Amino acid sequence: MNLNLCVLEGDGIGPEIVKEAVRVLRAVCGARGVGLSLDYALLGGAAIDRTGVPLPDETVEKCRAAQAVLLGAVGGPKWDSLPSGLRPEKGLLGIRSALGLYANLRPATIFPALRAASPLRDEIVGAGVDIMVVRELTGDVYFGEHSRFERDGVLHGRDIMGYSVPEIERIARVAFGLARRRDRRVTSVDKANVLETSRVWRETVTRVAEEFPDVALTHLYVDNAAMQLVRDPAQFDVLVTGNLFGDILSDEASMISGSIGMLASASLGDGPFGLYEPIHGSAPDIAGQGKANPLATILSAAMMLRYTFDLPELAGAVEQAVSDALGTARTPDIRGDGLPVWTTEQMGGFVAQRAAELLA
Ligand code: NAD
Ligand code: IPM
Ligand code: MN
Repeated sequence: MNLNLCVLEGDGIGPEIVKEAVRVLRAVCGARGVGLSLDYALLGGAAIDRTGVPLPDETVEKCRAAQAVLLGAVGGPKWDSLPSGLRPEKGLLGIRSALGLYANLRPATIFPALRAASPLRDEIVGAGVDIMVVRELTGDVYFGEHSRFERDGVLHGRDIMGYSVPEIERIARVAFGLARRRDRRVTSVDKANVLETSRVWRETVTRVAEEFPDVALTHLYVDNAAMQLVRDPAQFDVLVTGNLFGDILSDEASMISGSIGMLASASLGDGPFGLYEPIHGSAPDIAGQGKANPLATILSAAMMLRYTFDLPELAGAVEQAVSDALGTARTPDIRGDGLPVWTTEQMGGFVAQRAAELLA
C-alpha cells in the first residue's frame, strides 16, 4: 500500500507544524511497511509571494492527483492589505470549494492528561467531553456575493448569506450518519429566530431527521449554543451548523481541550478523498520560534489515516502517542502542571518515536 499526499505548508507556523506531522506519518508508515509519497504545493501567502495568486492552478491539480491533502495554515499581516480576492484566506476557501469538500469534521475532545489544563472546572469536563462539530464548509455567507457600495455618500459593506436545500440536506446526512456511530444525538445550531437562511436550514434538517428515526435531534440558537458549550459541554454529541457559526463555535469548543493547538479537522466530500488541517491559523505571533503546538496537525494526520486510508490501527497509535506525550511534557500554549516545556520539534519527535514503538 502507498499513500499519495499533497502537502500544503502555508504560512506562519504552517511549515513548522506540517514538518512534525509528516515526521509522524513517516514513522507510522515505516513501522507498517506502508509507502508514503509527498508532493508539496503552494497555498496562501507563500503562493502569493511566488506566483502572485493565493491558489495557483498547479496546486489544485496536485491536490486532485493525490488521495489526500495535508495542510498547515495560511495568512499573516504581510498580506492583510491585499484586495480581498488576492488574500491568502481566499486561497484556502478556493481549495475547499474546488475539491468539493463540504463537510468539515472538527472533533472537540479532552485528553485525560489535559483535564487540569482546560479553563473549565473539573466538575464540568471531568466526566469527559466528546463533541463532533460538523461544519458546512462550502456555502453560507462565506460564498455569497461580497460587495461594497456607496449610497448617499455613505460607504456600505455587504455579504450575502444563503443556503440551498440540497446543500443543507447533504451536510445534515453527514451529521446524522456520524451520530449513528456515536451517541445518536444531533444538535443543529442556527439563528432561525432572525434569519431566513436559518429557517430553511431548520426545516430541512428536521425533514432529513425523518430518515434517521434512531437519532435524536434538537435545535439551538447559536447564541444559546455558545453559552451551553461552556456551561455543560458534555451535553453535546454531534453538533451540525453552517459555515460561519461552525467556524466560531469550533474555536470556542477548542478551549475545552486546553488549547486551540489541540484541535484537528477533516474536510470531506462524497468519497474517501479529504483535506486535513488543524482548526487554528498561522499564528504569526509565534512563527519561527519553535513554540507552536504541532499536535492539532498531527491529530489531523491521524484523522487522514482513519477517514481516507481506513488505517485505524495507525491512527490509534498516533492518538495514543499524543496522549503519552501530554503526560510527559507540554508546548507553551498548554498549562504545564510542572511538566517540562518542549519545542515544536521535541513534541513531534516524541510522538513519532512513540507511535512507531506502539506499532512495533
Ligand atoms: P490563530 O489561530 O492563528 O491564532 C490565535 C492565537 O492562538 C494566537 O495567539 C496564536 O499564537 C495561538 N495559536 C494558534 N495555533 C497555535 C498552535 N498550534 N500552537 C500554539 N499557539 C497557537 O488566529 P488569528 O491570530 O486570528 O489568525 C492569524 C492568521 O491565520 C490570519 O491571517 C488568519 O486569517 C489565519 N487563519 C488561517 C486559518 C487556516 O489556515 N485554516 C485558520 C484561522 C486563521
Ligand atoms: C478556519 C479559518 C478559515 C475559515 C479562514 C482563515 C478563512 O478560520 O479554517 O477555521 O474561516 O474557514
Ligand atoms: Mn477558524
